[in-house]
Amino acid sequence: MRDTILSLSLKAKRERKTHSVVVVLSPLPLGEGPGVRDTIRPLSLMARGERKTHSVVVVLSPLPLGEGPGVRDVLERWDMKNILVTGGAGFIGSAYVRNMIARRPDERYIVLDKLTYAGNLDNLKPVQNSPQYRFYQGDIADRETVHAIIEQESIDAIVNFAADSHVDRSILEPDAFIRTDVFGVYVLLETARAMGVKRFHQVSTDEVYGSIPEGKFREGDPLEPNSPYAASKAGGELLVRAYHVTYGLHTTVTRGSNTFGPYQYPEKVLPLFVTEAIDDRPLPVYGDGMQVRDWLYVDDHADAVDLALHKGAPGEVYNVGGDQERHNIDVTRLILQLLGKPETLIRHVEDRPGHDRRYALDSSKIRALGWSPAQDFEARLAETVRWYQTNEWWWRKIKTGEYMQYFKKQYGARLGAES
Ligand code: NAD
Ligand code: DAU
Repeated sequence: MRDTILSLSLKAKRERKTHSVVVVLSPLPLGEGPGVRDTIRPLSLMARGERKTHSVVVVLSPLPLGEGPGVRDVLERWDMKNILVTGGAGFIGSAYVRNMIARRPDERYIVLDKLTYAGNLDNLKPVQNSPQYRFYQGDIADRETVHAIIEQESIDAIVNFAADSHVDRSILEPDAFIRTDVFGVYVLLETARAMGVKRFHQVSTDEVYGSIPEGKFREGDPLEPNSPYAASKAGGELLVRAYHVTYGLHTTVTRGSNTFGPYQYPEKVLPLFVTEAIDDRPLPVYGDGMQVRDWLYVDDHADAVDLALHKGAPGEVYNVGGDQERHNIDVTRLILQLLGKPETLIRHVEDRPGHDRRYALDSSKIRALGWSPAQDFEARLAETVRWYQTNEWWWRKIKTGEYMQYFKKQYGARLGAES
């Protein structure tokens, strides 16, 4: 609530002159936790008998009460109950669903996922019996499916995690990336616009900027993507922008940095190296291993998406960086240390074509909304390594079939007989 008032007065400084007074009568206490301060939407829901005390909040706002960017518009942001999470069976999407179901008891999370090789219902096991959760298998590029779910579930907001997400696969076979990361985003946007969905959040990536030798990218910097994956994500994002500017769709975008944590498909470097090292297999470090990635813990990434969805301003883009830059070779050594394995497992292999040397983000814009990431990369990495050690049931069954075919294609020539 305090934040709502703040954002009202902030906007007021720039945009409007008239004043309006809004009185919110709520059966919730004013205090911390699930109180009046929390959100507007839960107020009316929880008023149905869960609390006894009442509080009255008066919002004095220099914004008008009317349509458009007035008080009603700002308050309406909170009126979101049914959230469609596309790609919610993947690594970050499933963390978002697991975490938000626990944090936001008044919202329902409806997952639409194609269950590609990277989609995995095991990731959603912890919430599979929750009344706040529902799952649909389907493709974001299929209009009928998207339309039917939005109608059936009275969807208020879409959070799009769905993507083909691995750079190396985009270099081998870009088709699926264009179809999902560009055309799929278009189908979601067009259906959202036509059906009056209130909010659309696009989960994007720092890779849209390309590489930066020093300093940090800011949101207004040019997009210079270097891989088919990064280019397709940039394409999707630009469509999001166009739907905001042209049709007034209420959109937000987050550009996240390299994310790590439990349930990450073992094609990405961190779970790949941890699971290979557990089996005493060689770790294929691309080139000299001096590339820099900025590591972001998965729960922090999910929090940033939630914050941008609920408090982000329409049409805005937010960088989400972990502020934990590390050279790949150092992360590799750390993984080996944590597992008690020798550095002789390291193999410097042929580099990734077009390999971005360094990513770094200035995240002050989302920090100003109230977000901050965990600072201790090493502690989070240790927890994550332990998770893969104690959850072999999760990754061993993945590392068969299609995965092994991909592994041969990607690493066969690089590792030779050791692959
Ligand atoms: P992931 O590959 O683990 O999951 C992607 C999910 O999308 C899978 O469940 C897959 O089945 C689903 N999917 C793919 N195509 C689909 C389609 N056409 N229709 C419906 N579902 C489809 O990816 P992730 O690492 O969890 O990334 C999630 C999002 O975050 C992506 O948009 C990615 O670009 C972005 N991102 C990832 C990172 C990272 O480090 N992993 C960092 C920044 C941004
Ligand atoms: O920066 C955000 C991006 O991070 C996301 O948008 C992508 O979805 C996600 O896959 C990730 O992209 P990267 O290309 O940075 O991640 P990946 O895990 O593939 O590689 C991380 C670094 O490790 C990169 O510099 C390449 C290197 N690497 C990777 C693999 C798979 C190796 O040295 N060896 C490997 O076998």
